[in-house]
Amino acid sequence: MNREQAAKEITQLSKELNHHNHLYYVENEPILSDYDFDQMMKRLQDLEQKFPELANENSPTRRVGGDITKQFETVAHRYPMLSLSNTYSQEEILEWEERIKKLITGTPNYVCELKYDGVAIGISYQQGKLQRAVTRGDGSQGEDVTTNVRTIRTVPLSLKGDYPDDFEIRGEIFFPLEHFQALNAEREEVGEALFANPRNTASGTLKMQDSSVVAKRKLDCYLYGLYGDHLSFTGHYEAVSAAGEWGFKIPDASKRYIERVDSIEGIMDFISYWDQERRNLPFEVDGVVIKVNQYEQQNQLGTTAKSPRWAIAYKFKAERVETRLNEVTYQVGRTGAVTPVANLEPIQLGGTTVKRASLHNQDQIEKLDLHLGDRVYVEKGGEIIPKIVGVNNDKREKGAVKVEFIDACPECGSELLRKEGEAQHFCPNEKACPPQIKGRIEHFISRKAMDIDGLGAETVDVLVEKELIRDAADLYELQFDQLVDLERMAEKSANNLLQGVKASKNIPFERVLFALGIRFVGETVAKQLARRFRSMDKLKNASYEELIETEEIGDKIAESVMSYLKDEGNQLIVERLQAHGLRFEMEEQEQKSDRLNGKSIVVSGVFEQFSRDEIKKLVEEHGGKNVGSISSKTDFVLAGDKMGPSKLEKANKLNIPILSEEDFIKMINE
Ligand code: IVH
Repeated sequence: MNREQAAKEITQLSKELNHHNHLYYVENEPILSDYDFDQMMKRLQDLEQKFPELANENSPTRRVGGDITKQFETVAHRYPMLSLSNTYSQEEILEWEERIKKLITGTPNYVCELKYDGVAIGISYQQGKLQRAVTRGDGSQGEDVTTNVRTIRTVPLSLKGDYPDDFEIRGEIFFPLEHFQALNAEREEVGEALFANPRNTASGTLKMQDSSVVAKRKLDCYLYGLYGDHLSFTGHYEAVSAAGEWGFKIPDASKRYIERVDSIEGIMDFISYWDQERRNLPFEVDGVVIKVNQYEQQNQLGTTAKSPRWAIAYKFKAERVETRLNEVTYQVGRTGAVTPVANLEPIQLGGTTVKRASLHNQDQIEKLDLHLGDRVYVEKGGEIIPKIVGVNNDKREKGAVKVEFIDACPECGSELLRKEGEAQHFCPNEKACPPQIKGRIEHFISRKAMDIDGLGAETVDVLVEKELIRDAADLYELQFDQLVDLERMAEKSANNLLQGVKASKNIPFERVLFALGIRFVGETVAKQLARRFRSMDKLKNASYEELIETEEIGDKIAESVMSYLKDEGNQLIVERLQAHGLRFEMEEQEQKSDRLNGKSIVVSGVFEQFSRDEIKKLVEEHGGKNVGSISSKTDFVLAGDKMGPSKLEKANKLNIPILSEEDFIKMINE
């Protein structure tokens, strides 16, 4: 077979496989046997292997995954990804409907949809080919998870019919209950920890590095919105229906997953129907969404900073069950925080078996007036672990023992402390309490921190127990001979571990800073600090005032950073890490000009041409300084769309000039 014949056959096979994939997964009406489908796929795989230059990234063979994403790239959304305003009351839906009628011309009609409980995704297509899939992130930028989204069978890789050249489609990726339960059953069998709920598992799955694992998980996706500069539709329903024609999985109107109504009665009927029926759906929903259908009316209504005025979500009240409180145990986290956990008589709740519920802190236990053996009400909110929301007092056993919060750490016996104004108890034995030592090291090596390959939580446990490590710096002093003697540690894994440790020396400063595990210093805060101070030495010398001037940093974080850096033990660890060659300085960035030298600039709002981070980078590249809040020392405010009203007010009050994105670009390019 020559190249030309192969190319022709590859195109033909891809087209047929895409078609059968659509019939099977989207339409639920396969016409080809699994065997024939597999044969066809195998033929395509063989051809692509023989002629690798003919294989393309949207080939149906990519559905099985295999590509690895080490780090998900952050990308700016072309259209901001807003959220919905929520209500739990039908009364407020009535008010919303009354309000919007006054703000638009003409009579509205509405589209009622389910509110899928999953992960929002924006997928862009160009010339009918899937281009990129991005998570919501902070609404202005998200993570590029294209490789993983390609494995979701109901997301078309190539479109059919009369689609626009360039558009983005948004929807929700979710874990169908059937597949979620099967996955947990598998995990139970091999003794792995169970996943708490479908939504979080869908979210975690979407961020997995190995797309072949994602492919096996069988995620699904419903689409609910179209975005583009030149779309020819006049309304939402029409647009979604058209997307169905192009091959997308859109909500099924015959099952009332989506419904067009023209009155408040229609809306209420939809709500009542799904309030009952949602329990029989093959996936989780947490409410319904009501949208004004006509785009023109949507535009008249516009959006607030966070959400469109033309849509509202009615959320169902969380499902609640009653079960018995068997015991309260206590967990110690890496920061020493002690969390009480309710151990319950296992019970089904929203598709999962609930055995434990978080009790948060002592106050919570007291507020509930918990007694051992109580019948408690358990609810599943948005969090991973369900919570106890009340006690059935009528069923309290006689002589039941009141739950008393513990005085001593369950792990090391130290007396627990509770700072004034804080709800959490914590174990002060930072340096010697095992879960704290382990937790800090586990955090240090985690993927978003030092990302040390070849080292996992279990190995950390062993290394700590054998007293080979007590802190992060000890990792860099581990020797091959110490490792190979350990149980279950072959030569290869010892080498991998050492190699991973060595490779981590190239991790940039901002992640090293995050890895240190300073209380309240998450990824974003670490990034801000690194950007602002540029090196550990400068950060060490920073005053409290300088710290709180940094964006996202308030007094709580500033105090925590200062107290971490003041501690001699921490200083020693940092010094040792420095001596081992970890990066404690930002890489010097290119200086493009000195046009903004000495200027303090506050960046606020959403920009058109750049993401907020890109704008801030530009400020620095031209010699300016980004500051978080407006003061009399601010030279100007660079304001995008939707700048916060309080900032605007303050800038006006202090007579600080406000520049637009355009003004700014002119200024730096002058
Ligand atoms: S419309 C600008 N429709 O709910 C609003 N969102 O807070 C665009 N969601 O995470 C969203 N089902 O992903 C819309 N039928 C539906 C939805 C839906 C679920 C999610 C969305 C976002 C959240 C909105």
